[in-house]
Amino acid sequence: MGRFEGKVALITGAASGIGAACALRFAEEGAALAGLDLQDPVGDDWKRAVELAPESCFELADVREDARLAEVVAAVRERLGRIDVLVNSAGVAGGGAVHQATPEDWDFVLDVNLKGTYLTSHHVLPVMLEQQSGNIVNIASVEGLEGFAGGSSYNASKGGVVLLTRNMAIDYGRKGIRVNAVCPGFIDTPMFRTVFDMEAVKSIREEIREAHQLGRFGKPVEIANAVLFLASDEASFVTGVALPVDGGYTAGHRFSITKLMGLE
Ligand SMILES: NC(=O)c1ccc[n+]([C@@H]2O[C@H](COP(=O)([O-])OP(=O)(O)OC[C@H]3O[C@@H](n4cnc5c(N)ncnc54)[C@H](O)[C@@H]3O)[C@@H](O)[C@H]2O)c1
Repeated sequence: MGRFEGKVALITGAASGIGAACALRFAEEGAALAGLDLQDPVGDDWKRAVELAPESCFELADVREDARLAEVVAAVRERLGRIDVLVNSAGVAGGGAVHQATPEDWDFVLDVNLKGTYLTSHHVLPVMLEQQSGNIVNIASVEGLEGFAGGSSYNASKGGVVLLTRNMAIDYGRKGIRVNAVCPGFIDTPMFRTVFDMEAVKSIREEIREAHQLGRFGKPVEIANAVLFLASDEASFVTGVALPVDGGYTAGHRFSITKLMGLE
């Protein structure tokens, strides 16, 4: 019997990458799924998840749209009866230092990554409060824990998600609802490939890979496994954490002094 048998997981950004990998892992553990995304599913993960959990539903929706989210949550409740887990994975990349980022770009990144996390939670929390139980896992980033050159809006949005996570852990802990964040390092997903498959950034890609102390990028399932843990009863005393799942990216730096010390 799976760890999430009889439970319902609502996942934003479920069409692709980390969100789709979460959907598949929750389905493998027995959950019914409600996927939400702007686009139809890409890749195989959502398809495989639905084969395991055929009662699941997928809603085309934008996490920036208040009224649409209200409809989706009502529809999920009508179809699946409850919402035990919310994974906020919908997100977009954004670049530019502050003097370069236009107000439109800034709003776009903050609206999807930070406001979208707030707005989806805002609609799901009444259901969890009524149930007196629930688990929310926000997908933040290592870029919510430390700065990244030229990443102003993305850094700000993910730093906001980390602190919103802690705030929600305080506000809802006594209501039976745990709220945690996962902070992925660089994970090989469509979002990652859009940026790092460009010829101009091939050498930068290697620098970033090197900054992960395991010497490689992560896989979506490695993030999904951490999300699953945080949402499970095995993490019953864990709330308000921002867990780096980053191959050692935030552990510190490794300079060529390692040669001097005979470490390589
Ligand atoms: N890939 C990485 O290296 C990495 C690292 C750290 C954090 N993250 C975070 O992980 C999350 C998932 O990213 P991913 O790498 O799987 O990217 P992805 O592009 O593969 O998936 C993101 C999904 O979010 C959906 N989405 C975007 N805007 C939306 C909106 N307004 N409403 C509804 N859905 C929307 C997209 O359609 C897409 O399907 C994001 O929050 C991202 O910031 C990714």
